[in-house]
Formats: sequence, structure tokens, C-alpha cells
Amino acid sequence: LTCHCYSTSITGYLEWVLKVRVNTQAVLKRAQQIQGGKVAKKQWQAAWLLKAVTCIDLTTLAGDDTPSNVHRLCMKATQPIRHDLLKSMDMHDKGITTAAVCVYPSRVADAVKSLKAANSSLPVASVATGFPAGQTPLKTRLEEVQMAVEDGATEIDIVINRTLALTGQWRALYDEIRQFREACGDAHMKTILAVGELGTFTNVYKASLVSMMAGSDFIKTSTGKESVNATYPVAIVMVRAIRDYCLRTGYKVGFKPAGGIRTAQESLVWLTLMKEELGDEWLSPHLFRLGASSLLADIERQIYHYVTGRYPAYHELPMA
Ligand SMILES: *[C@@H]1O[C@H](CO)[C@@H](O)[C@H](O)[C@H]1NC(C)=O
Ligand SMILES: *[C@@H]1O[C@H](CO)[C@@H](O)[C@H](O)[C@H]1NC(C)=O
Ligand SMILES: *[C@@H]1O[C@H](CO)[C@@H](O)[C@H](O)[C@H]1NC(C)=O
Repeated sequence: LTCHCYSTSITGYLEWVLKVRVNTQAVLKRAQQIQGGKVAKKQWQAAWLLKAVTCIDLTTLAGDDTPSNVHRLCMKATQPIRHDLLKSMDMHDKGITTAAVCVYPSRVADAVKSLKAANSSLPVASVATGFPAGQTPLKTRLEEVQMAVEDGATEIDIVINRTLALTGQWRALYDEIRQFREACGDAHMKTILAVGELGTFTNVYKASLVSMMAGSDFIKTSTGKESVNATYPVAIVMVRAIRDYCLRTGYKVGFKPAGGIRTAQESLVWLTLMKEELGDEWLSPHLFRLGASSLLADIERQIYHYVTGRYPAYHELPMA
């Protein structure tokens, strides 16, 4: 994908946002094609699964998160696949880790400490801005971002005010995300659209564009706490917004599906979608993340099967 750079004012961009319409039938058809299509050939699947591992934001977002379960998560993230399995695939010295760990703001310091103790440079991502609903005062949401950054998070997953998107207040949405962008400083910002609550595909597309204009490094589908999670049709809408934005501005923005992604097979479909819609460049943690907690366990299980020809007993793979 070769992106061009045209400079346009924010007003010019917002005019573009107002005009766009998404063709629902075309999106649904494309999503079916991708879901029903071929994923990587058998012999490449193990390599693709490892690729998927390197794109995972290994996540825990539970009310009962503690320093010790966050520590276990961090250890798993730094060694996501059993060493002997990697060795059989001759991949043990490739430094395979997940892309990041993702936690609540109050657990950032724990994660940073655990990773530091393990000499790992793995990034810590934090959800913020009143995750998942975003229903706290703006001042509090901004402070939360700053706090997570001060504690050492280098990636911030923000949630948007859904009402602004639902009621078409694009300029106000832009202004709000800009403030989060500033609060993030050098930290990467991933903007969660909570697509399950945005109504139409056209709204998802517009919210994607506005989020990118306001400086998001990634756009992300869901919090994992809505009743609708990452779906392929919505992903098509978002990655096409990424493509159109790139063609128009030259900026390459990443994509993060999250919520309900559990199986190795699904991770292969996601990689296929990225490859076909945006090209190979979007097959790396730099531009693609999978937000997940239990996905890694299934991927490790499939890799175990690839290497040994049988599925592992429960105790043979440590917790993910
Ligand atoms: C981390 O690095 C330091 C200095 O290089 C070393 O002494 C220490 O053993 C390492 N710790 C781990 C857990 O690898
Ligand atoms: C979200 O935007 C709506 C519409 O402008 C506003 O009424 C509401 O207070 C905002 N929510 C928060 C938490 O600021
Ligand atoms: C969405 O994802 C969350 C987190 O993985 C899961 O608990 C929930 O059941 C999922 N919801 C649906 C409707 O799939």
C-alpha cells in the first residue's frame, strides 16, 4: 500500500467525514468471503500462529487482578510458548514474546516492576479514560491517562464518548480525542470505538476516521465488555477506513480487534484479513494487535499439536 500525502485542514477532513457512506451489503459479503476463505496452508500455519503470538496484547482486566496474577501474566508474555516447542521449530532464539501486556491503570506499576525484574523491555499497555464505559468526568479521564503514563505505561487504550459518535458530533469527538492524545505524551494511543454501541457501519467508519485524524496510533474495535465484540464485518469497515486514511494522508494507523477472540483458528482469519485488506506491512505488532486473554492458550495448544502430533494434557502447558 503506497500512501500519498495531501495536506488538508481539519475542516477539510471533517467535510470528508460528513460525506462518507458505507455500503453494508458489500461489507457483509466481503466478511463472508474472508471467513469462508482459505487461511494459511498447513505447513505455514505454525509460523502464522507464532506471528499471531507476537501481535497479542496479553490482557487481564478483572476486578480481582492482583500483583501476583499480573506478575504471572507478565511472565507468560515474555515466554509465551514453551521453550522446547520453540526449539523443535528452530524458533527458540528468535526472541518470541507477545506484543505487550495490557492491564488496568492501577496495575501498571505492578506490571512494570515484574517486567523490569525479568529484564524484559516488553511494553505495558493500560486501558484508561474511564474504561470500559467512559462515564467519568473529562478531567478524571485525562488524569487517569497521565497517571498510567507516569507509572510506566507506554501504550494507552482509551475509550471514546459513544454519545458524541452516535449523535454525529464529530468535531467535539475530535477535540476530546486530541486532549487524550496530548495527555498520552510519547505513549502510543489506541482508540477503542466500542463498535457494538455505535449503531451503523457508517458511524463506525466515521468514528474511525475522526480517531485517526486526532492522532490515534491504533484504532481498536471493542472493550471486551460490550455485548458485541470484534466481528469481521466491523473490522472490514475499520481497516478500510485505515486504508482510505493512509491513501489520503500518508499516515499508517494500526488495527486492534479485541473482545471474544479465543481460538487459534480465529487468529489465522484475523491475519488473513489484515494481509488481504492492508498488505504484509500490517502483519506486525507495529500495526496489528490482537487484544486477548485466553487466545494464547489455544495457540500454544495448537503449536504443541504441530510439534508432537498430539494435544497436551491440561498440566503440560502452564497457565496463560
Ligand atoms: C537481569 O540482568 C542483570 C544484569 O545484566 C542480571 O544480573 C540479572 O541476573 C538478570 N535477571 C534476570 C531475571 O535475567
Ligand atoms: C458525552 O457526550 C455527551 C454529548 O455531548 C455529553 O452529554 C456527556 O456528558 C459526555 N459524557 C461524558 C462522560 O463526559
Ligand atoms: C465478548 O468478549 C468477552 C471477553 O472475552 C466475553 O466475556 C464475552 O462473553 C464476549 N461476548 C460475546 C457476546 O461474545
